[in-house]
Amino acid sequence: MSIKALWHTAARKALVLGTAGALAAGGAVVALAGTAEAASSLGAAAAAKGRYFGTAVANNHLGETDYASALNAEFNSVTPENEMKWDAVEPNRGSFNYTSADRVFDHAKSRGMQVRGHTLVWHSQLPGWVGSLAAADLRTAMNNHITQVMTHYKGQIYAWDVVNEAFQDGSSGARRSSPFQDKLGNGFIEEAFRTARAADPAAKLCYNDYNTDGVNAKSTAVYNMVKDFKSRGVPIDCVGFQGHFNSQSPVPADFQANLQRFADLGVDVQMTEVDIEGSGTAQANNYATVVRGCLAVTRCTGITVWGVTDKYSWRASGTPLLLDGSYQKKPAYTSVLDVLNGGTTTPPTTPPPTTPPPTTPPPTTPPGGTGCVATYTTEQSWTGGYNGTVTITARGSAINGWSVPLTFRSGQTVSTVWNGTSTMSGTQMTVRNAPYNGSLGAGASTSFGFTVNSGDATPPAVGACTAS
Ligand code: G3I
Repeated sequence: MSIKALWHTAARKALVLGTAGALAAGGAVVALAGTAEAASSLGAAAAAKGRYFGTAVANNHLGETDYASALNAEFNSVTPENEMKWDAVEPNRGSFNYTSADRVFDHAKSRGMQVRGHTLVWHSQLPGWVGSLAAADLRTAMNNHITQVMTHYKGQIYAWDVVNEAFQDGSSGARRSSPFQDKLGNGFIEEAFRTARAADPAAKLCYNDYNTDGVNAKSTAVYNMVKDFKSRGVPIDCVGFQGHFNSQSPVPADFQANLQRFADLGVDVQMTEVDIEGSGTAQANNYATVVRGCLAVTRCTGITVWGVTDKYSWRASGTPLLLDGSYQKKPAYTSVLDVLNGGTTTPPTTPPPTTPPPTTPPPTTPPGGTGCVATYTTEQSWTGGYNGTVTITARGSAINGWSVPLTFRSGQTVSTVWNGTSTMSGTQMTVRNAPYNGSLGAGASTSFGFTVNSGDATPPAVGACTAS
């Protein structure tokens, strides 16, 4: 199927399913003290801050109504929990199976959610045949795996965890032993990233790890690698911090400072697998610290929690997630939503924590009057393509939906759109709000993004925003 055909299929699905999704709570707003309005779902609240709020999703739970409803109502980004790992997609050499991965991917994309790819090169969930290859063959197999999997989803994955957990725990700062490390040496990470960039130039390429959330020997070893990559032009766009916390591994005091030092190297940072064991206020406070830390770092582009419900968490006994085993919202859920919304839902008696400015630039048109205004930014471009973001800001009064026309040059093809539903007619694409980001309070903003991956890198002409 051509990319254009794929795009049309995805757009059709989005239109059909988006209507059903709109009935869910994702797009609603609740009144806040003062003039602002607060989003009532995690995804909408994060989108208003120019970020995503995602979850790990397991294919085998999608058929459970409560699971799918909670997923659809709350999140605007999805990471397949196991379905894109090496043992799932290439169990035997050269034999690729995307059945489960595609189900998770399709579920997300048809509802306007973005997808994080997880993961291409990892020592775990690695089929036995990979470990038994000799060096030259292993190199070929690694590069082929990256190329095949990324090509299958080309232009449609927001970010890939290209290499996962390649460093040892503890104070050594050394690389972890794995077939890749042991046979190919330190250079395997660089090679994986170069192969990944060639396979899908539109995807952000991340290094992902755990126990790197604070400043410590392991995170410093990763930091030094990223610094070296940036200085030598090795392609890397982001670093993922898994964020698995419990009493033995609490949220570090220097969590935000650690994110910031990576961001200062010129990469995005993302919280990729957050779960925090505990309950009640203590758990709620820890989640608030993590979300506040991300919001305070301009290049922290989003947060993913490692599961929809405690019921299916990989460490369910620690009840580490935001919805309990019966899909009820926990105090941690409320605190995350409050922090994303920039305050509490009741008038604060003390000044609320300062909320940093959103990553998206303010519109150049003053937001007076009625309706909405759209502003455009090119995020990343490469030969033959680019990623663009359009920020929509409600002017002087609240709006319940928006639509923006974009006109592309002949020969340019849009391969994917996220945080919006789109229709294409010739060179004109009209993007309407997704189910969860249509309602904007006066002066509030949200954004959608898209990838152009054929033609040149000339930005589109962005027409006037229409509000409803
Ligand atoms: O589906 C099979 C089932 O058919 C079989 O009967 C059963 C028996 O063992 O296994 C089931 O598969 C399990 C799979 O989860 C699905 O539940 C695997 O054994 C189990 O190993 C696998 O665990 C996953 C773990 O990665 C493996 O390392 C977890 O779900 C997943 O949450 C976890 O995710 C990792 C990230 O990818 C990387 N960072 C750490 C994170 C937590 O460990």
